[in-house]
Formats: sequence, structure tokens, C-alpha cells
Amino acid sequence: MLKSGPVPRYYQLKEIIRQKVTGGQWAPGTPIPSERELCEQYGLSRMTARQSITELVNEGYLYREQGKGTFVAQPKITQQLIQLTGFTEDMEARAKHPATQVLKHEMVPADAVVATALRIKPGQLLFRVQRLRLANGEPLAIETSLVNFIGCEHLMDEDLEHESLYQILEKKYGQPPLEADQELEARLAGEEEARLLKIGKGDPVLHIHRTTYTDRNQPLEFAKSIYRGDKYRFYTRLNRK
Ligand code: GLP
Repeated sequence: MLKSGPVPRYYQLKEIIRQKVTGGQWAPGTPIPSERELCEQYGLSRMTARQSITELVNEGYLYREQGKGTFVAQPKITQQLIQLTGFTEDMEARAKHPATQVLKHEMVPADAVVATALRIKPGQLLFRVQRLRLANGEPLAIETSLVNFIGCEHLMDEDLEHESLYQILEKKYGQPPLEADQELEARLAGEEEARLLKIGKGDPVLHIHRTTYTDRNQPLEFAKSIYRGDKYRFYTRLNRK
């Protein structure tokens, strides 16, 4: 039962539901009780129950499916922003099964933006790979990497469907990714992105631009990634000096 007092009723219901979700009492993918059932059980108005649910949907604990109801969402992936890691190792560290679909791989001339990031002349040929990244069969991100080093054209022969780019660069080509600059930006999914990521057009996504450096601060990779907004949360520790 809800308490009377200063804590709003919608907030109390929200906390009750949140605890059932985070405590594992309600498993991911299962439907939650209908608004009507929640109203009856907790003696609330429909508006109040709806507000609790809407906030939990917006925060990623629940998701709605049109005509079907409201369901418990899979917990988001918390991605730290402190250490330089690659997708494969990130997923393996979470005991998730990573998979990759190579959408395109080719040698392309650097445009002005990429040339500046990689500190090369525009027009220089680079290896470019566009990949759909999945975990446990679920699409999470679309990543486009442009890679430059002497001999980068040999990457055309690598099996990037089954192998990690970072591991290949380090183990086979002696180009370990050591540091990176990264920027994050909120955007809305376009039609093609939405189709690949299995989300709705206009759903929130995160665009991440990364420039990766190898030994002696030499730029190695310029990558643009599009991550599903409903699957990721980013974490960083801040110090006040
Ligand atoms: C991350 C980065 C990409 C990088 C990738 C390498 O997802 N955002 O810039 O290309 O990791 O992942 P993997 O080593 O699995 O190919």
C-alpha cells in the first residue's frame, strides 16, 4: 500500500515497480500489470499510474509495444569512459556473446575531416569498414572505422566478421590502440540506422566519434559509432582538483 505524506503517489508507485525490475522479481521481457490492475491494487487514479510508468519507460526500465502492453526492459549496458577498450572485449567482460556483420569494407580516399583527425593529406587511401555490432544476437551499434598505417590495405583480407579489429591491429600488425579522444552526441535515428538497429526511426541514438592513437601518439583509427540510446548508459568518474 502507498503511504500518505509528502512523497507523491506516482513516485511511490514508480519506486515499487523499479525495485521489482532491478531486484529481478519481474524478469526482462515479461509484461507488467495493466494500468487498470495497478490502479486497483494501489488505489490510484489512472493518470497517476500512467505517470509512474511513463517515467520508467523514459528511464529505460520498461518499454511499450503498441497494442501489446508494457514490458520489463533488459538492463542497459554501462560503458565506462575511462579505459580504452574495443567492442569485443567490452562484451566478453560482460559474458555477452559479441557478433559482427560487416556491412562494407573498402579502401577510400580520406576526406578533409578524416585527414585532419588522422593527420594525413586529404586523398590518401585508407581502410574503411562499416560493421553492425551485436551482443547475444541483439544489434547494439553501427560502427564505421577508418584505419591508417603503412600496409593498412592488407586489412581488406582480414575476417572482421569473426575477429576483433583491435586484436588484429595489435597482434598481427604491431599497431596497438593505446589512447583515444572521444566525443559523444545525442541524435535521432535515421531510417537506415533504425532498420539495422531494429529501433524506430527518430528513436534516440548516441553518436560517438573516436580518434585512436598507437605508439608515439600516431593516429591509427578514426571511428564513427551509432549506439542505441535504449541500450547504453555511459559512466565516468570525475575528480575536483
Ligand atoms: C569500439 C570503438 C570502435 C572500435 C571498436 C573495436 O566499439 N567504438 O572505434 O573500432 O571498439 O572493436 P573490436 O576490437 O571488437 O573490433
